[in-house]
Amino acid sequence: MQTVDDSKIESASGSQPAVPVHIAVIMDGNGRWAKARTMPRHAGHRSGVKAVRRIVEVAAKRGVSYLTLFAFSSENWRRPKEEVSRLMNLFLDALQREVDDLHRNNVRLSFIGARDELQQGLVQKITLAEEKTKDNSGLNLIIAVAYGGRWDIVAASKKIASRVAADELALADIDDECLAGELALAGKPDPDLLIRTGGEQRISNFLLWNLAYAELWFCDCLWPDFSERHFDEALSYFSSRQRRYGHTGEQVGVA
Ligand code: FPP
Repeated sequence: MQTVDDSKIESASGSQPAVPVHIAVIMDGNGRWAKARTMPRHAGHRSGVKAVRRIVEVAAKRGVSYLTLFAFSSENWRRPKEEVSRLMNLFLDALQREVDDLHRNNVRLSFIGARDELQQGLVQKITLAEEKTKDNSGLNLIIAVAYGGRWDIVAASKKIASRVAADELALADIDDECLAGELALAGKPDPDLLIRTGGEQRISNFLLWNLAYAELWFCDCLWPDFSERHFDEALSYFSSRQRRYGHTGEQVGVA
């Protein structure tokens, strides 16, 4: 959990590390990629899985510790039934096919989102994958499925409210840290960098709380085309940023 305190001056002190600890990605543009090739949308999503594989590999290679991918939002349930169903099957297939390989590569896999909205078969695979990879010490790969930033904050608020109602928590003790401790990414550092492909420049209800101080990098490239080169461009942009966390440039020594 990241709170804004003076310790942040240290990490904001001019010498920004080239590699963010935590990168979050909005993988947009699968549909347009397919349309440009007169292919059905699901062909774009299938190609998107290949880009996921590439980016997991390069993130691990560059020494990123956490990679959080927005695979399916709370709002994506509004898509045509057939697309939703194909996407769910794609997640299931990808899990089945990739887990052993991820495990061999020391990747720790976890999922965030409203599991009660997912089909049982998928929830079982998710639970097994998390269990299998839980002791791995390499890249933490977090997949957001049926996830929304507002859902996350509402769910955390409910947990806090029930602790207050049960007299386990005093109202006065509710602060940033307390709320962050109930969010889906509790215990993990906030993303340092958000990458969004597909040309749109918005957050789209992703990690609303956790992205508070993230650097934002947008590119026009459609997700299935996202490559190592784009990833390195994002890293290079990140390393050029001065992070102040509310302090002045003078305070962080790079005015
Ligand atoms: C947005 O593109 C993409 C999605 C809603 C699905 C993302 C899924 C994948 C990349 C595939 C699988 C991922 C994992 C983690 C196995 P869009 O359909 O909104 O594209 P458009 O804006 O061009 O229509």
